[in-house]
Amino acid sequence: MQAWVIGNWKQNPATSHEAQALLNDLLVNDLLAPTEGRLTNTCQLMVAPSCIHLAAVSARLQETPILCAAQDISAHSDSTGAYTGDCSAQQIADAGATWTILGHSERRQYHKEPYDRLVQKMAFAFKQNLGVILCIGETQEQYDNEQTLSVLGEQLSVIPGVLESLRSTNVDTNNDTPNAPSIDNMTERLIIAYEPVWAIGTGKVPTVSEVSRTHEYIKQTLADYAAELTDISVLYGGSVNADNASSFAADPMIDGALVGGASLKAQSFLAIAEAFASAKA
Ligand code: PGA
Repeated sequence: MQAWVIGNWKQNPATSHEAQALLNDLLVNDLLAPTEGRLTNTCQLMVAPSCIHLAAVSARLQETPILCAAQDISAHSDSTGAYTGDCSAQQIADAGATWTILGHSERRQYHKEPYDRLVQKMAFAFKQNLGVILCIGETQEQYDNEQTLSVLGEQLSVIPGVLESLRSTNVDTNNDTPNAPSIDNMTERLIIAYEPVWAIGTGKVPTVSEVSRTHEYIKQTLADYAAELTDISVLYGGSVNADNASSFAADPMIDGALVGGASLKAQSFLAIAEAFASAKA
């Protein structure tokens, strides 16, 4: 299975000039060369810039092997409306993104976003043909109390609601457009990122075998929801860097990485991508 390495740039960098400089550093690299590039066949790269840089970054990434994602979308409308400060799934897609991160723990922590709002956001993303990278993960306290799997089970429980809304949309509109969101093409439209909150930006990481067991649980839970979700990619996120990437990449349950801090330097981001590309080759 192809690996995914996704850079979550968060509220970085400070200027559009620096965003372009980061892209320059990524795109001059031989690893991405269209013919002999070592990454592109086995590892799909993606970056998620802040909303203000999205259109310029996605324009620059046209005709390159790197995909572009947003970090969030509006929960109020998939299109337009009186929702100050929001960007809709349609606007994000129009800006050139093909994916969006949803449910990141920083949205929950700093914006008090309830997890059930995600059913709406996911439905809006799929309606506008955006793929979804859904983040789940336990806090330090929940980890210490050995509640990880029950917390993840609860967070994943938004998915049946989304499947239900996809099924009813498809029935209502009798939608037979080839790329229309449907439960049948979920493996191309949905990625789960397991990110323990206590590992994000802290330098602390769970052991590879802990992550592996957790991913096994996530994959089993998805398969129990619907047979079509059996091959969904499950990525690990939280303090992934150039030094620890290869140990995560070597585990067959870990299909890639969602990378924050280390994605802000081309060298470390590409080293992580190379670790996954060679492990999954
Ligand atoms: P980090 O962030 O790699 O800086 O820990 C990961 C994330 O929040 O997606």
